[in-house]
Amino acid sequence: MSELHPPTTTVLAPEPRSNWSRRDFIKGVIASGVTVSGVSYFGAGLTPRLSAQIGGVERLLSLAVNGQTRRVDVLPGETLAMTLRYKLGLTGTKLGCDRGECGACTVLLDGVTNYSCSTLTHRVRGREITTVEGLEGEDGTLHPVQQAFIDELGPQCGFCTPGQVMSAVALLRRNPNPTRAEARTAMSGNLCRCGAYEHYLNGVMRAAQEA
Ligand code: FES
Ligand code: FES
Repeated sequence: MSELHPPTTTVLAPEPRSNWSRRDFIKGVIASGVTVSGVSYFGAGLTPRLSAQIGGVERLLSLAVNGQTRRVDVLPGETLAMTLRYKLGLTGTKLGCDRGECGACTVLLDGVTNYSCSTLTHRVRGREITTVEGLEGEDGTLHPVQQAFIDELGPQCGFCTPGQVMSAVALLRRNPNPTRAEARTAMSGNLCRCGAYEHYLNGVMRAAQEA
């Protein structure tokens, strides 16, 4: 009888225990290695044939995320938001509308704002991806935009905040001294169901002054 060998490229996710929360499960997957399979999220228990019918075959990609190289198995039609949140554990990126309308999923690609819900992960190979988790300093110091948003009481429920932060960071990198009108235009792709727009604008202007 031939000896069985474990797979060489995919680290299987741990079995979810009944008392685990979904967040615990995701953390467990992240802790299991830098290469993770999405099968647990996109079709646990599916046969390879059925999985292929639904989403095609995963391919191993190397992505540049927050200054690190992350290796991850990605389905052909998988969006960057799904990869970031459910395979790489970067849940700071939020999913709101999931169709390019609200801005909650905003990340930076080579410093430019991008809706990650409307971007295929396969299309961002070789690009520098920055999420909200990549903004704070090594000592945990918040980015000036994050601190300014807190100081100006920007977040209400906070769901839109990561996307708002990413848009503000991109703006101030290309225009460190925007007018309020310029800031309003730059932030117009980020909706806030709590209506905290003026607070976020105050935060952008404060961050620009304090930079
Ligand atoms: S979740 Fe991407 S734009 Fe709304
Ligand atoms: S703070 Fe609640 S959606 Fe913006």
